[in-house]
Amino acid sequence: MATTDAGLWCVVPAAGRGARVGSAVPKQYLPIAGKPLLLHTLGRLAAHPCIAGLMVVLAAEDALWPGLHEIAGKPILTATGGAERADSVLAGLRALRGKVEDSQFTLVHDAARPCIHAADISRLIEQGIRAGGALLAAPVRDTLKRADTQGRVAATEPREARWRALTPQLFRCGELIAALESARAAGIAVTDEAMAMEHMGHKPLLVEGSEDTIKVTTSADFALAEFLLARMD
Ligand code: CTP
Ligand code: MG
Repeated sequence: MATTDAGLWCVVPAAGRGARVGSAVPKQYLPIAGKPLLLHTLGRLAAHPCIAGLMVVLAAEDALWPGLHEIAGKPILTATGGAERADSVLAGLRALRGKVEDSQFTLVHDAARPCIHAADISRLIEQGIRAGGALLAAPVRDTLKRADTQGRVAATEPREARWRALTPQLFRCGELIAALESARAAGIAVTDEAMAMEHMGHKPLLVEGSEDTIKVTTSADFALAEFLLARMD
C-alpha cells in the first residue's frame, strides 16, 4: 500500500506543562537515564522503519527544544501547540498539510510515552490501515469501582469490554483533522484522537498494546520508565 511504502508521519504532541509532575521544567525535558524524556520517545519512533518523519508539537513558550532537524535519519519538523492536547494535535496535523495527503494515514503518539515497542507500532499500522483507523489499547485487568463523593464505593463496574486507550493512534490525516475541528466547534473536549473519530460515527479498531506503554504522568513514573527502557531493545 502506498501509504506504508512511503512511510507514515507521526505527530508527537509535546506542548504540555506536566503539571502533575510538578517540576518547573516540563516533564518532556526531564531526564531518564541522562537523556530528556522527549528524546527517548522521538528516538524510538524514528527507529521504526514504517515512520517517515516526525512532527513535534511544542508549546509557544518552549525554550528547551534542542532544534533537532533529524533523528536516526528521519526528518523532524515542529509546530506550535495550543491550550489542550487536542489543540496541539490539530496544529501538528495542519502543519503536515502539503507533506501528507488527506487520504494518507498519520500516527499520533504522546511525547510522554517513551516506552513504545516497535512490534506494537507495526501491529497498529498493519491492522489499523486495514480497519480504516485504530488505536493501541490495553484491556482493563483490575476490578473497577465507582466512587461516591465520600470516597466510598458506590458501585462495582463491569470490567468486561473495557479498554484503556494508549497511543499511537492511526487515522487518515484529512478525516482526523475534520473530526478534531468538528469536536472543537461543538465544544466537545476530546482526550484522544479516537474519541474525535467516534463523534463522527467511526468505530476505530482496538489493537492490543503492551501494558508497559505507560504515560509518564507523576514523578514516580520516571523510575518505572527508566526500568522499562533499560529492558527494551
Ligand atoms: N500535550 C500537548 N499540548 C497540551 C497538553 C498536552 O501537546 N496543551 C501533550 C503532552 O506534552 C503529552 C501528551 O500531550 O506529551 C499527553 O498529555 P499529558 O500526559 O496530560 O501531559 P501534560 O498535559 O504535560 O501533563 P499534565 O496534564 O500533568 O499537565
Ligand atoms: Mg495533560
